[in-house]
Amino acid sequence: MSSKPQQLILHLVLPLVVLGAALPAYAKEDLSNWELPPIMAPKDNPQSEAKAALGKQLIFDIRLSKNDSMSCANCHLFAAGGAGPTPRAFGHGGELGRWAPSWDNAGYYTSLFWDGRAASLEEQTGALPGHMGPITAPGEMGTTMDEVVAKLNAVPAYKKQFNSVFGSDATPETVAKAIAAYERTLVSRKAPFQSYVSGNSKAISASAKRGFELFRGKALCITCHVPPTLTDNLFHNIGTPQAGPLKEDLGRYEVTKDVADKGKFKTPILYNSASFAYFMHDGAFSRMSQVIEHYNKGGNPQDKNQDPLIMPLKLNDKEKADLAAFMETLTDKSLNQISEPNLP
Ligand code: HEC
Ligand code: HEC
Repeated sequence: MSSKPQQLILHLVLPLVVLGAALPAYAKEDLSNWELPPIMAPKDNPQSEAKAALGKQLIFDIRLSKNDSMSCANCHLFAAGGAGPTPRAFGHGGELGRWAPSWDNAGYYTSLFWDGRAASLEEQTGALPGHMGPITAPGEMGTTMDEVVAKLNAVPAYKKQFNSVFGSDATPETVAKAIAAYERTLVSRKAPFQSYVSGNSKAISASAKRGFELFRGKALCITCHVPPTLTDNLFHNIGTPQAGPLKEDLGRYEVTKDVADKGKFKTPILYNSASFAYFMHDGAFSRMSQVIEHYNKGGNPQDKNQDPLIMPLKLNDKEKADLAAFMETLTDKSLNQISEPNLP
C-alpha cells in the first residue's frame, strides 16, 4: 500500500463523513440497551433443542389434564400473543378470577404469576411436588402428576424421548423441566422494534418513533416497563378496575400479607401485547386504546393504594395513536404463528 495521505482521506474518511451527515439524528443514538438479552436457564436445567421440542409437545398435549380435557395452549393462545382468549381463564373449576397472561418472554421474569408466587418456570407448571400450578390446580387442568407421568410413560415414543433427553422416564421433575425449556425459547427477537434498536432506522414508522419517545418520556411508561425487557420485575397498583367473578383481588398482598401490597400486580413484559385479546390481571380491558386511556386519565385516583407514578398524562389524540403505533412494533409475528407439533 503506497497511497498518499490525501488519497487516504478521500477514500476512507470522506465517505464516513458523508454517510454520517446523511443519517437522521435518531439513528445516531445507541439504543442497544433496549435489545432483548439472552435468557438464562437454571444450572440444573440446561437448555437443549431436543428438550425444548419435547416441552413444546407437552404444552399442546391434553394428556396433561384430567380426562384429557385441555392443554396449556388452550388457555395461552399463540395467535393471541400467548395469552388468554377469554377475559378470565376457564378450567375444571369454571371461570377463574384472573386472565391468563402471555407466556411469551416469560423466561425474563424473576417471579411468575400476576402476584409473583412462583419462583421459576419449572415451579410455575405445578408439576413439582409442593407447588400448585396449572397441571395440578383443581380449578385448572385438575389432574395429578401420578396420572400424568403414567399416561406419558405408556406412550412408547414419549418414553423414548424422555429417556434420550433426561436419561429417565417422564417424572414430575422432567415434565416441569421440558416445559420450562420450551418457554425459554419464546422470545420476541423478530419484533420490528428489536430491529430498530439494533440499528435499522427504517424498521418502524415515524408515528411509532414518536410513540417510543412518549413511552420513555411524557407518558412515563418506562418508569415500570424498563428496558431491556420492559418489566422492572416489581409489583404496582395501577388502579385496574375489578372485573370478573372476584369481588376483590388483593394481588401481591396474597403472597406477602403486607398491606402496602394490596392491589399490586407484576409489571408485564409488553412484547406481543398488541395481539392480546384482553389486558390486565382480570382481563378488564379488551383494546389497547382502553389501556392507553386508563393511563392517560391517571388510572383510578379513588384507589388509595394506587402507585404515585400513575397520574394524568394529558396526551392528545395524535399522541395516543403514536403510543399505540409503538406498541404494535413490539410484536414478533413468528411467535403468534406457532402451531401444534405432531404429538405421539
Ligand atoms: C385453565 C387455563 C389455563 C391453563 C390450562 C394453563 N394456564 Fe397458564 N395461566 C393461566 C392463568 C389464569 C394464569 C395467571 C394465574 C395467576 O396469576 O394467578 C396463568 C399463568 C401462567 C404463567 C405465568 C406468566 C407470568 O406472567 O407470570 C405461565 C408461564 C403459564 N401460565 C404457563 C402455563 C403452562 C406451561 C401450562 C400447562 C402446563 C398452563 N399455563 C396452563 C391459565 C391457564
Ligand atoms: C407504575 C408502574 C407502571 C407504569 C407507569 C405503567 N405501567 Fe403498564 N402495567 C403496570 C402493571 C403493574 C401492569 C399490570 C396491572 C394489572 O394487571 O392490573 C401493567 C399493564 C400494562 C399493560 C397490559 C399488559 C398485559 O399483559 O395485560 C399494557 C399494555 C401496559 N401496561 C402499557 C403501559 C403503557 C403504554 C404505559 C405508559 C402510558 C404504562 N404501561 C405505564 C405497571 C405500569
